[in-house]
Order: sequence, then structure tokens, then C-alpha cells
Amino acid sequence: MRSINNAYAGLAGNYLFSEVARRVRVYKENHPEADVISLGIGDVSQPLVPAVIEALHKAVDEMGRAETFRGYGPEQGYAFLRQAILEHDFLARGVSLDADEIFISDGAKSDVGNFQELFGEDAVIALTDPVYPVYEDSNAMAGRAGVHANGRWSRIIYLPCTMENGFRPELPTERPDVVYLCSPNNPTGTVLDRDALTAWVEYARANDTLIMFDAAYEAFIRDDAVPRSIYEIPGADEVAVEFRSLSKTAGFTGLRCGYAVVPKKLKARSSDGKTLLLHDMWLRRQCTKYNGCPYIVQRAAEAAFKEPARTQMRAVLAVYQSNADMMLDACAKLGIQAFGGVHSPYVWLKTPGNMDSWSFFDLLLEKAAVVCTPGVGFGACGEGYARLTAFNTPELTRAALKRLENVLS
Ligand code: MLT
Repeated sequence: MRSINNAYAGLAGNYLFSEVARRVRVYKENHPEADVISLGIGDVSQPLVPAVIEALHKAVDEMGRAETFRGYGPEQGYAFLRQAILEHDFLARGVSLDADEIFISDGAKSDVGNFQELFGEDAVIALTDPVYPVYEDSNAMAGRAGVHANGRWSRIIYLPCTMENGFRPELPTERPDVVYLCSPNNPTGTVLDRDALTAWVEYARANDTLIMFDAAYEAFIRDDAVPRSIYEIPGADEVAVEFRSLSKTAGFTGLRCGYAVVPKKLKARSSDGKTLLLHDMWLRRQCTKYNGCPYIVQRAAEAAFKEPARTQMRAVLAVYQSNADMMLDACAKLGIQAFGGVHSPYVWLKTPGNMDSWSFFDLLLEKAAVVCTPGVGFGACGEGYARLTAFNTPELTRAALKRLENVLS
């Protein structure tokens, strides 16, 4: 028999969104007439904005002419895009970084899943519960999560995010090597304000803990006082890696582009005492295993950081924000407790009548042909919750909410 990575044998079931998709497929096979509306996976419904399409066309034409054709690009991403990101996402908000600390990729999911390759086998990982499953699964695949039982891994430190603590993770009592934070949060839709983030940065500095900060949903923040980047907190560039995505902000879920910020101040030590920079390790990893995001996609992404795309994208975000408002209103009308949805495209609701998450999922699918994401799929603390996404069209969101009202009132 071939030798395999045994960690895969210990993985729990399917990847969450594949399992949801499988159940929806089975439902559609049994109900071919059903007109299913998805408020499940966070996939966008609005097309790319005109300025991004224009940049794509232009780049495609360049690829068809010998004098402007491009082959392999720099593994870290083209300088034009790194510079546009630096200016728009950081310098404009008073954060000083070097363009060389920005690594372009095909999306935040790959980066956040791959980055753990840099951690030691015995690194102790802390995760919020509920959590975006990629953080947990990718560490489990690497064999550093221990044994899985009752929805939890034995070597992972879980930081419960519950209604009682306002879905904010408390600082761990046992020191982790790495902690994953996501704000605005997937799945709870809540945010970490400046004080909360400052406490995490101070904790990380005092305990030599690395923060993996997922800011994929920062564009949904409506209040300027809420940090969009962890680097708005002094000292964070010595303890945090940040991940960003164009998927939800610019409609790139199909086109694929994201980036990771790995500051040069982030140090790590090998077991034989050598000091390494995480920046250099990540560069080495990317150069070895990745040939970069396509040129035409990077040109489209560059446009997305500039006018007139910014104005066009704001109008698209407003559509999703108004969907989220509709969802919060509908929950209030039904007497359902709902969280998030203000600085986030996700509404996290408490299932009525203490129904378990999968029963609620089945009820919505069977009786309303509406798909949600069961909260327990994000972790044990998500049991009794469900997540709705605001990324569908306003028409279908309205129709889905009407069906929910009919089933639940
Ligand atoms: C989600 O629904 O949580 C997201 O679409 C997942 C992702 O971005 O990978």
C-alpha cells in the first residue's frame, strides 16, 4: 500500500461548502421543479464593474501582440498592482508598508490555507469557534491539529465566540504560537474594534504569538472608526500577517485575485536557532510552488484600486449592504435574534425554537427552497445558529426573505 498523509484520514466529513452543495444537489434531483434561492455560500451576484472589464479587454489585447505579450510574471505579483494596493489600501489610511511586503495571489483562501506550511509541526494554533473552516482544515491537513473528537481537534486552542461575549474572542489563557482572527468576521458578521484589536496586538507582542489576520471583508465596514487593517494598530507589523481578497469587494470570486501582507519585521526561529524572516520564507515558498496570478487578472485588479472603478464598486457594495439591511429587518419582524450584517455581508442568526443548525438548514430547504449555511459547520459554538449571505440579487434576496416569513411566522 502507498504511504499517505494520515492527517487526511482524520479529517471530518466534507469541506463545509461542498457538503452544503451536495445536499442542495440531492434536493434538486428530488424536486426538479423547485426554484432554489441561495443565501448560502458567499458568492457574489453582481457582474464586474465596467472599468474592470475595460482593463481586462485591454490586457487581453496586449497578450495578442508580440510587443506587449507577457509570459511568466514575477511570483510575488507585478509591481504596478502592488503599488496600487499600497497606495489605496494602506498609505491612504496612514499605514506605512513597503510594496515588497505585498504578495499577489489567486485569492485569500489559497494564501490563508497555504501559509501554515511555514509553521512548525508542533506549532500550537488558536482559532475562534465558530471559524472559517479553511484555517482549521489546513492545519489539520498538515498534521498539527491532533485527534478529532466531538467536533474539536485535541491540539487546537478554541476561543469561543458566543452571544454572551458579543462574538469577540477572549485572549487565550494558554499561549498559542499562532492565532487566526477574522474581522469583519466570517461567519458571525461582527467586527473587532480598535480596542479589541489593540489588545490582541499587545498580547501577540508579549507572548511571541503570530496573528493571521483575515481582512477579506474590510470593504463592508461602514464606520471609519473600525480598523480595516491590523496595521492600523501600532506594532502590528511585528506580529501579524494580513490577508485580503478582491472576491467580495470587486466581484472576483470567479476571476481570482487576493494578496497577503508579510512585513519584513516578522521574525521566526528554526529549531537549530537560526533567525529567519517570514517574508523571505513566504517568498521562497511562493517562488517554488506558484507562478503567479495571471497578467490580465492583475491588470483588472489594478483598475479595481483606482477611479472610476472605485465609484462603480461602491454602488455594487451598496446593493449588498441593502440586502443585509433587508435580512436584519426580516429577522426582527420574525422575532429572530440576528447579529452582524452591519459591517459585513453575513447575518448570523439564532435558529428559532432552539432548532439545531442542520435541522434549520433542512427546514428552509424543504419548505422554502432557500439555502443557508448551518452554523455548526463553522464549529461547535455555531450549533443553533445559521448564516445568511447578502450576496444574492436584491430581487432574489427579497423573494427568499418572503419565503422565510411564510415558513417561520
Ligand atoms: C463563504 O461563504 O464563507 C466564503 O464564500 C468562502 C470563501 O470565501 O472561500
